[in-house]
Amino acid sequence: MLEKPILIAYATHTGTTREIAEVLDKLFREKGASVEVRDLEAIRDLSLYRAVVLGSSIRYNEWLPEAVDFVRQHQDQLRSKPLFYFSLSMTMQQDTPAHVQDSLEFLRPVRELAEPLDIGLFAGQLDPAELTQVAREIVQERGFPVGDWRDWAAIQAWGERVWSLLNQEEVAGGI
Ligand SMILES: Cc1cc2nc3c(=O)[nH]c(=O)nc-3n(C[C@H](O)[C@H](O)[C@H](O)COP(=O)(O)O)c2cc1C
Repeated sequence: MLEKPILIAYATHTGTTREIAEVLDKLFREKGASVEVRDLEAIRDLSLYRAVVLGSSIRYNEWLPEAVDFVRQHQDQLRSKPLFYFSLSMTMQQDTPAHVQDSLEFLRPVRELAEPLDIGLFAGQLDPAELTQVAREIVQERGFPVGDWRDWAAIQAWGERVWSLLNQEEVAGGI
């Protein structure tokens, strides 16, 4: 029987999170895995996948509402398979223990629904040209710095970690 694919699902406003999903997709494919990358709004049936890697950006100290809804709606399935979260925010532009703590706190609502095996916390990107006037004013007020702060080496390293945890789960018969 063909192995079920790994699902990499994302919620994004300006594409920053999708690009992380695409990097993880490439990494897992290079390892020989079967992978599907989807906007989470296009996903119906999680039984088709052997593991789920789910990412969202942070707005107003929370995952995007569609990502929280997705976890709420699919919590039973998500709890039954290897699950990983990744999160993009400007808080992680400074990778200090306090900011890691804040970033984990942003994920509390989804972690209470389905606790993942691991979480990737990454700095995101702010491109004013991609934002509405209101969003521009909000990020300015909050003092978030404009620019692309994604640390591709850290993202790659997290992908390797997910891959190794996935394989440990499989060896342990977790899938
Ligand atoms: C309107 C708005 C609100 C945001 N709120 C937060 C926030 O509360 N905390 C934070 O750390 N980052 C916040 N950010 C930064 C985003 O998480 C960051 O820009 C991210 O890379 C966006 O990813 P996306 O393009 O995939 O949606 C906000 C960005 C915008 C535009």
